[in-house]
This record gives sequence, C-alpha cells and structure tokens, in this order.
Amino acid sequence: MRTPVFLLRAAFGAWACAALVAGTATHAAEPVQPVTVPQVKDPARVELGKKLFFDPRLSRSGFISCNSCHNLGMGGSDNIRTSIGHKWQQGPINSPTVLNASQNLAQFWDGRAKDLKEQAGGPISNPGEMGFTHELAVDMLRSIPQYVAEFKTVFGTDRLTIDEVTSAIAAFEETLVTPNARFDQWLQGRKTAIDAQELRGYELFKSSGCVACHNGPNLGGGSFQKMGLVEPYRTTNAAQGRAGVTGKDADRFLFKVPTLRNVELTYPYFHDGGADTLAQAVDVMGRLQLGRRFTDGENADIVAFLKTLTGEQPKIVLPILPPSSDKTRRPQPFD
Ligand code: HEC
Ligand code: HEC
Repeated sequence: MRTPVFLLRAAFGAWACAALVAGTATHAAEPVQPVTVPQVKDPARVELGKKLFFDPRLSRSGFISCNSCHNLGMGGSDNIRTSIGHKWQQGPINSPTVLNASQNLAQFWDGRAKDLKEQAGGPISNPGEMGFTHELAVDMLRSIPQYVAEFKTVFGTDRLTIDEVTSAIAAFEETLVTPNARFDQWLQGRKTAIDAQELRGYELFKSSGCVACHNGPNLGGGSFQKMGLVEPYRTTNAAQGRAGVTGKDADRFLFKVPTLRNVELTYPYFHDGGADTLAQAVDVMGRLQLGRRFTDGENADIVAFLKTLTGEQPKIVLPILPPSSDKTRRPQPFD
C-alpha cells in the first residue's frame, strides 16, 4: 500500500508534461479531480440510516449518537483533539470527518475496517465510544414499532439485525459528499473561481510534493503513508497506525492519508489532534514529510488554497426520531 514518494512525484511530473504536450489543460491533467455526488439508489434506506446516525439511543447513555463525534454542522467532525466517549472518557484518537469518507480505500486511521458498513458496527459496541452492545442496540430498535415498520419497508423482512442497521447507516453516509467546492469549479474551467494567492498555493502544493500523498478526488484517502517521513513526528499519543492491523514493524506510524476536502472545518489536525490550525499543519507537513521549510508567505498561500476545498455541505433536515415504547430499555447515562 505504501508507494515511495519520489516515485509518485516522478509519475505526476510525467503526467503533467504529457498533458502540456497534448495541449489538454483540463482537470484530467491535474493530480486532483472534482468530487461527484453518487446517485441515491434507495432513498428509504438513506432516510432510515439518517435516523440511526442521529439516534443517541444506540448508546448505553442514550446521549451519544454518531453525530456527537461526527457533527454534520461542523464538517462531520467534533473539533476537539480526541473524542469524548461514554461517561466522558477521553478518546484515544482524533475523530476523522465522515464527509466524503465513502471515497476512502478503507476506514479508520489505520484502515482496520474495509468499508463504511463494517466501520459502522464499531462505535456502537466500543466501550470507549457509545459503550453499548449490538444485541442491546437491536433490542432497543425492536422495541420501537415505528422502527420495526421502517426496517421492514426498507429490507423486506421482520428480522431487524445489526447487519441491517450498519447497511442503513452506510447508505446514509454514502450521500455525505461535498461537491462544487471553489477548487472543483476551477478544475471544471471557471478560472475566476479561485484568486491569484489560492492558485499560487495550489501550484506550490503540487511542486513541493504534497500531491504525492494528497491526490485524487479526495486529496487523500487513497493510501497509507508514514507520518514523519523525513523527520520523526513527536507525540505522546500511543497510536501505532497500520502496524496495529498488519503486525508488521515496517508499518509503524503509517496512517491513512486524510482527505483535505473541507479541511478548513475539520480542525484540529492529525491523528492526535496535535495541530490546532491549518498553518501549523502545513508547517509540520512541509518539514516532516518533505524536508521543506515554507516561508510565512508560502504557508499562507497553501492555507488559502486548502480553504478552496470546502464544498457544499449536505443539507440535513434534522430527523424526528420514533419515540420509545413502554418496553424500550431506558438509558443508563451514569453506570
Ligand atoms: C465517541 C465519539 C465517536 C462516536 C460516537 C462515533 N465515532 Fe466514528 N469515529 C470516531 C473516532 C475517534 C474515529 C477514528 C478511530 C480510529 O481511526 O481508530 C472514528 C472513525 C469513523 C469513521 C472512519 C472515517 C475515516 O476516514 O477513517 C467513520 C466512517 C465513522 N467513524 C462513522 C461513525 C458512525 C456511523 C458512528 C455511529 C454508529 C460513529 N462513527 C460514532 C469517533 C466517534
Ligand atoms: C508522504 C505522504 C505525505 C505528504 C508528502 C504530505 N502529506 Fe499531509 N498527511 C499525510 C499523512 C499520513 C497525514 C496524517 C498524519 C497523522 O495524522 O499522523 C497527513 C495529514 C495532513 C493534514 C491534516 C489533515 C487532517 O484532517 O488531520 C494536512 C492539512 C496535510 N496533511 C497537508 C499536507 C500538505 C500541505 C502537504 C505538502 C506540504 C502534505 N500534507 C504532504 C501524508 C502526507
């Protein structure tokens, strides 16, 4: 999964040259592509998934929903260093955005879940997050007649399983794509969509080598790369990255390259939330990944470019959740 940076850089150089020779200065020649919104195939499933995403009754406390840590009013993240879990536990790692997550090669910083459906089961039963069990979550849903009816409509059976729960949540998450960022408009030919400073920032983003890892429609999400390639990253955070999944020492400190879409909204940055601002994150990336110290002006140009990646946020109508019945287990926020 790990591609040496110099190879990628050479590949992008050749790509850009070929495009110039052919005279095709369209986005096809760029290492970054616009993001496109997928067609919704099953709107009822998406709607059910949205309810589940917002339903805090999937947690032991009855207080924490997916949206607590992936707040769709805050770029799909929680804007704190590491998340707060059941009973105010300090989480081990920064919450990545759910926006455009469907485009990632795998889910989690270390890629331990292969897709959104597999991922969605994790937090519900994680004692440090929602602190519940899949059985109790399913029992809760089965005790609510409106949910039972809705699952039946969507899945055509009376079973109501955790598998259906995670399928519905994943279907909702697949719609959380943010198109039409100013940078996408520029890629599509509207040359006035970004200004001179933002364009300078993009040119520097390409020429200094950021695109070796942050490329494609998501400017990331496509590979696992070492954090601290040129200079080690210093952190007190215990996360080992990809090595935790593969068991290989060579994979220590390899993390999934995060998307840079909406990065203006998803502070603080890095797996440990160690950078509070974009200027800090760009400085660290320049030094640690590329061995390059940007001047204040260069740093500001790249930051200006990164802010053109904020897309149209999903328009969410807050779902009204079906009420608990007399049989529904009551939340246990404090035990
Ligand atoms: C207590 C906070 C918290 C809650 C609640 C929570 N998450 Fe997360 N989520 C996180 C953290 C932290 C990570 C990163 C964990 C890691 O990589 O080890 C994460 C990772 C993810 C990812 C992977 C994104 C990526 O780019 O790798 C997705 C998708 C996601 N969560 C969706 C959900 C869904 C769906 C729910 C509800 C069922 C949920 N989360 C509930 C904190 C939370
Ligand atoms: C060798 C691959 C590589 C290169 C080159 C690289 N990055 Fe990164 N980038 C990563 C990885 C991996 C992370 C996640 C590191 C972590 O969280 O520990 C990351 C994280 C980031 C983040 C934080 C995103 C977030 O949501 O936490 C920003 C911003 C960023 N990079 C910008 C840049 C810029 C700007 C450049 C060029 C100066 C650059 N990167 C070069 C691999 C790379």
